Amino acid sequence: MNMSIEEYFSKHWQQDWSQFDLTGYNILSKLPCNGKETIIDVGCGYNPLKQWFEDRLVGIDPYNDSADVKVSIEDFETDQKFDIALALGSINFGSMQDIFWQTEKMCSLVKEGGKVIWRQNPGIYDHPNDYFKDIDLFNWTFQINITIAEALDMEVVDLRWDNNRIYSEWRKPYVGNVTGVSD
Ligand SMILES: C[S@@+](CC[C@H](N)C(=O)[O-])C[C@H]1O[C@@H](n2cnc3c(N)ncnc32)[C@H](O)[C@@H]1O
Repeated sequence: MNMSIEEYFSKHWQQDWSQFDLTGYNILSKLPCNGKETIIDVGCGYNPLKQWFEDRLVGIDPYNDSADVKVSIEDFETDQKFDIALALGSINFGSMQDIFWQTEKMCSLVKEGGKVIWRQNPGIYDHPNDYFKDIDLFNWTFQINITIAEALDMEVVDLRWDNNRIYSEWRKPYVGNVTGVSD
């Protein structure tokens, strides 16, 4: 019997950030711990960053009860725009089309000048339980980052390995009049 993604992430998956240098708890050095910046943690799992950001961070996840809003990125509805979106291993399942739509939706929630910070699995089945093999992993690559970011008018500002995952940062450019001075 093939396990559904819902069953896997609601019953079997456990967080382990010990193998990640950039996207373990060191991710905190990339995030504004003081100030007013807002963060959406897409596929937050157990919502481990909530304790540092409280109301400035909204963790969404369709399968984990620790989420602030128990919903998928596809079905999340808000008028709010965020300074930073995190996708730490969460936009990583299904087809290229699934990934594209989910990424487009996530980027639409980011302010101009804001960032998306990613941890991406390139297709490695290394979770320490047998159930993981039933999950339809999307194989992220450096080139796919560049292709999707370009299609969505996002800039890739950092792209490198974080152990056996891809660390990526995208920036949403300003398109309006940034000076506020009219002609
Ligand atoms: C590998 S876990 C990573 C969780 C967390 N970001 C972390 O780093 O510990 C992937 C998470 O993505 C969530 N997820 C899967 N599909 C999703 C979707 N369509 N929208 C939002 N989250 C999703 C899962 O429920 C799961 O909690």
